[in-house]
Amino acid sequence: MHLVADLGTSNFYAGVIGSENVLHEPCVVAYEKWGQTIIGVEAHKMLGRNPDIIELIKPIDGGCIQHMDSVIEILKHCVRTLTPRRVSRKFELTLAIPSGLTKVEERALEEAGKSAGANRVQLLNATVAAAVAANLPIESPTGCLVVNLGAGVTEASLLSMRGVVSSHRMRRGGSMIDQAIVERAKKEHAFHIGSRTVEELKHEMCRDLESPGAEVRGRNLRTGLPDALFVPRKMIEEEIDAYCDSIVDLIGQALSSCPPELAGDVVERGVVLVGGGARMSQIEGKLVSRLNIPVVIPDEPELCVVKGLLRSRWIQNNRTSGSYFRKLVAPSQGAQDGH
Ligand SMILES: Nc1ncnc2c1ncn2[C@@H]1O[C@H](COP(=O)(O)OP(=O)(O)OP(=O)(O)O)[C@@H](O)[C@H]1O
Ligand SMILES: [Mg+2]
Repeated sequence: MHLVADLGTSNFYAGVIGSENVLHEPCVVAYEKWGQTIIGVEAHKMLGRNPDIIELIKPIDGGCIQHMDSVIEILKHCVRTLTPRRVSRKFELTLAIPSGLTKVEERALEEAGKSAGANRVQLLNATVAAAVAANLPIESPTGCLVVNLGAGVTEASLLSMRGVVSSHRMRRGGSMIDQAIVERAKKEHAFHIGSRTVEELKHEMCRDLESPGAEVRGRNLRTGLPDALFVPRKMIEEEIDAYCDSIVDLIGQALSSCPPELAGDVVERGVVLVGGGARMSQIEGKLVSRLNIPVVIPDEPELCVVKGLLRSRWIQNNRTSGSYFRKLVAPSQGAQDGH
């Protein structure tokens, strides 16, 4: 059995090679004081509502482990859910990672996998996996630009001939938009909105582009009492715009450090957006107008990384090409932290 997983700041995605099923849940673990552990959807429902006796943990931030035990619990949960009838729980594991993780951070992921029962753990760059799912010709000598818009990380990678030519990332993503709205509501309206409510509001504004804004529930900081606030669309659009500006900068960095032939390929073929952030319907138009290159968004962009992991024949053939696989994992020369 070969488990593949994309552990994210907001969500985890997992599957077993040979099966089409994908498990997709919020990356949250709840520990109840009397010993029960709750993972995923049920734990996420408690966010912002948990009493002191329940500790809520978001164990991944920007591809790095923040809480080892929770990551192990999540991986065990994936095995239990995806292979309910298996007697033997020994498995191989491939994890998607962003570029630029330190060796220590990579080793922590390997350790988590082994502690969850994996007898072998491999790491693969998430944008490479996403490119496989998006059917990009990454084996040919053509430049393909993939941008993964996550909750905690945004990564732009230029891929060609099975390798990462250059990769740039910033430790910011969709959750930065949510946090900015929370801060603005506090500063401009003395109103505290919970992070779950803000994320739902953002999704609603991305779904219905005609809506002028929406009323949300929260706490009036002047009175200290529960209250409602109308959040205008303008506030959300301004924050999405600011995020778009940083994506444009990131793409500029990825392109400016690559050979001109590959940059030319990208201008022709365009950029492929994956990750949950690609669901922001405004983002395509904003990027097309600012970059003047085509923008492609695959169906279900948030599933691209895990689907690529499931399809990647490198993973299945890896017994004979282990060293090559590792090469893909290693940060490229151009890889660096954008922020
Ligand atoms: N329909 C939608 N409209 C707007 N934003 C969305 C939508 N769906 C998801 N998102 C945003 O996408 C982000 C989550 O994407 P994703 O699941 O790819 O991130 P992640 O893998 O958990 O994070 P990371 O890879 O950065 O660690 C969140 O910020 C979420 O609000
Ligand atoms: Mg992700």
